[in-house]
Amino acid sequence: MAFDQKILMCAPTYFGVSYVINPWMESHFNDTDRDLAQKQWDNLRTHIAQHADVVLMPPQPGLPDIVFTANAGLVLGKSAIVSRFRSKERQGEEPYFDVAFKENGFDIVDWPQDVPFEGAGDALFDRAHELLWVGHGFRTHASVPGLLEQKLGRATAALNLVDPCFYHLDTCLCPLTGGYLLYFPAAFDAASNTLIESKVPADKRIPVDADDAVKFCCNAVDLGGHVYMNGASDALQARLRAAGFTPVITPLSEFMKAGGAAKCLTLKLVEA
Ligand code: ARG
Repeated sequence: MAFDQKILMCAPTYFGVSYVINPWMESHFNDTDRDLAQKQWDNLRTHIAQHADVVLMPPQPGLPDIVFTANAGLVLGKSAIVSRFRSKERQGEEPYFDVAFKENGFDIVDWPQDVPFEGAGDALFDRAHELLWVGHGFRTHASVPGLLEQKLGRATAALNLVDPCFYHLDTCLCPLTGGYLLYFPAAFDAASNTLIESKVPADKRIPVDADDAVKFCCNAVDLGGHVYMNGASDALQARLRAAGFTPVITPLSEFMKAGGAAKCLTLKLVEA
């Protein structure tokens, strides 16, 4: 069956925690279970494949984090910006993501080599308004929201990330269908919280507490009314149901050890 959405994924054949570039990785050096990672990834892929065409890119030895395709770059229409990773450990992924975008028919947008930008990990389209939420502070440079406005012609809302455990915007904020916003307020500075509150009415905001946030509930994939996530409390699941969504828990413990979960393992290739 052909779907309207296409999602880029990369199998965890060479996935593991072999360096430390975020706090989650610190206590999990060489501590992932490869078979379990493969099973968890297969389960996520099966869920996604009910709503979207899954486009696979080949895994690469020596690049364990390439499984996190949200960091490939950012697409809008036929244009793609390829990420510029802040850490040396991930820079080797860039040429493979460049090839994946070209193979899927995207035109690559010029981006300065020296401006760190970690793609859809830090840039998320609002699902009700023509607005791009852009996180900075850890990986993506503070100049990126302005640069994205120039390059893509889309208004941005710049959010300053302040908690190193929530180093990418997609670890603590998820725009949902209908303009709902699932997010962890404590991951942002006061000005960013004020900005969020000015853009999203109270009845559309779904703030989560620290217990839910550390399950990476905000690192969710919203497809066809389903919200796929590693974990969420009963209360949060009830809140999502009340807003018309169907939360689906798909455990991703092995990827959490690297600081990623459902959303990080996917990239929507159809964005208008
Ligand atoms: N270990 C990876 C890193 O620190 C995890 C990336 C998770 N991706 C994401 N979009 N949040 O870069």
